Amino acid sequence: MSFDIAKNIGLQLFPLSNFNSREIANLYAEIWRDGPYSEVWTEDTAHQAVSSMGDNLLVATFDDAIIGFIAGFPFIQSLESHPDFFCATPAIQQLGLDVKKIDYLAELAVMHSYRGLGYGASLLQSYVDYVIDKGCEGVLLRTHASNRNPALPLYKNFGFTYLVDQTGKRITTEVNHPRLGNIPEIDHRPFHLLKL
Ligand SMILES: CC(C)(COP(=O)(O)OP(=O)(O)OC[C@H]1O[C@@H](n2cnc3c(N)ncnc32)[C@H](O)[C@@H]1OP(=O)(O)O)[C@@H](O)C(=O)NCCC(=O)NCCS
Repeated sequence: MSFDIAKNIGLQLFPLSNFNSREIANLYAEIWRDGPYSEVWTEDTAHQAVSSMGDNLLVATFDDAIIGFIAGFPFIQSLESHPDFFCATPAIQQLGLDVKKIDYLAELAVMHSYRGLGYGASLLQSYVDYVIDKGCEGVLLRTHASNRNPALPLYKNFGFTYLVDQTGKRITTEVNHPRLGNIPEIDHRPFHLLKL
C-alpha cells in the first residue's frame, strides 16, 4: 500500500522499511498505552506487532517529524491472523458486499502533539481514496466502544456505521490484553463499516 497525501496538508507517507522499526515500535506502544486502550506493551511485543505489519504500515511525516501512522490489509488476509473476525463475514455478505473486496483498517494514529490539526482526517481520507482506486467495496474497522474514544466521531463523520447482524445487534469482538492500572482486562470493540 502506498499513497501520496502531500497534496493535502504537507504530509508524506513512507513504508515502515524506511524507518528504524524499533523507533516506530516505541511510538506505537506510546499510542496504545493511552486511554481508552491503556494497553501494556513491552519494547519487544510492540516491535513484534509493528514488524508483523511490514510495509502495510505507513508512517506519516511532516517536515521530517513523525506525526502518525496508518495500516490496512485486505479483510480476507486479516482473517489469517484474527480468526475471530470471521463473525463479521455474514453481516458483510448480507449487505450485498463481496468479502474479497473489503479492506480492513488495522491502525490509525496521530501522535499527541499533532492531534486536533486535521491530520487524522487527512490520513483516513487518503486511505479511503486509495482503497476506492483498488476497487474495494468497503472499509471495515473495529474500535473501542468507550465514548472517550476520539476516533468514534471521526469515523461517524466519514460515514462509517456499526456493522450489525440481522436482528440489529452490533457485531463486536472482545480484546483481552494486559492493561495499565485498574482497567478491566477485556474491552469491547464493535466493527464499523464504510460502504464505498
Ligand atoms: C483518533 C485520532 C487518529 C484523531 O486524529 P486527529 O489528527 O486528532 O484528528 P483530526 O484533527 O483530523 O480530527 C478529525 C475528527 O476527529 C474527531 N476528534 C478528534 N479529536 C477528538 C477528541 N479529542 N474528541 C472527540 N472527537 C475528536 C472530530 O470528529 C474531528 O473532526 P472535527 O475537527 O471536524 O470536529 C487521534 O486522536 C489518535 O491517534 N488517537 C489515539 C489512537 C486511536 O484511538 N486511533 C483509532 C483507533 S481505531
